[in-house]
Amino acid sequence: MDDRFTPYPLDKVHRLFEPGPVVLVSTFDGHRANLMTNGFNMPVRHSATLALVVGPWDHSYEALRDTGECVIGIPGRDILETVVDIGNVSGADVDKWDRFGLTPAPAATVRAPLVMECFADVECTVADDRLVDDHDLWLLRVERAWIDPAAPAAGEVHHRGDGTFSTNGELIDLRSRMTKWESLTRD
Ligand SMILES: Cc1cc2nc3c(=O)[nH]c(=O)nc-3n(C[C@H](O)[C@H](O)[C@H](O)COP(=O)(O)O)c2cc1C
Repeated sequence: MDDRFTPYPLDKVHRLFEPGPVVLVSTFDGHRANLMTNGFNMPVRHSATLALVVGPWDHSYEALRDTGECVIGIPGRDILETVVDIGNVSGADVDKWDRFGLTPAPAATVRAPLVMECFADVECTVADDRLVDDHDLWLLRVERAWIDPAAPAAGEVHHRGDGTFSTNGELIDLRSRMTKWESLTRD
């Protein structure tokens, strides 16, 4: 593990997610690592359990289903444009780590890599997939979490569901980058 990171307590991981930052989901299908952008996520109680929507339209879905593992990276404002761009291409077509210049690092408990450009990384396994068929909703158990203590507090960014994002009060309009999701950006 990179020296920059120290272990982060599992019972506080929900604070990293509340109320659901835009995140990168890292998976490894046994051959290749992939990344996808995710805005539909939330902590579930204080139990180091997270809920995450990943649907069959995502190439990542199969890797998550087959391996039962992922890493959730929490990006800051500094790489937000890249995060949106990652949500507009499929890992079936391109190696997104290479294309977007992000750095994978070995995780402690899962085979999916940590994302070094994120200020926090959360290693997860699938705890319950009973809602996946009906709702694309995965319940994940947090196995290990890492944070860069030097990163700014509350550095996460929140997707407002339409291609605009908020940081601490600042609105970032990236609707023009939502090339694959244009219908969401209309009023
Ligand atoms: C801002 C943003 C938020 C997104 N949130 C989700 C989400 O919560 N769940 C989901 O399944 N897809 C979401 N997507 C779409 C996926 O990131 C997109 O389908 C991506 O191409 C999947 O990559 P993959 O095919 O390599 O797995 C989002 C896309 C963007 C741009």
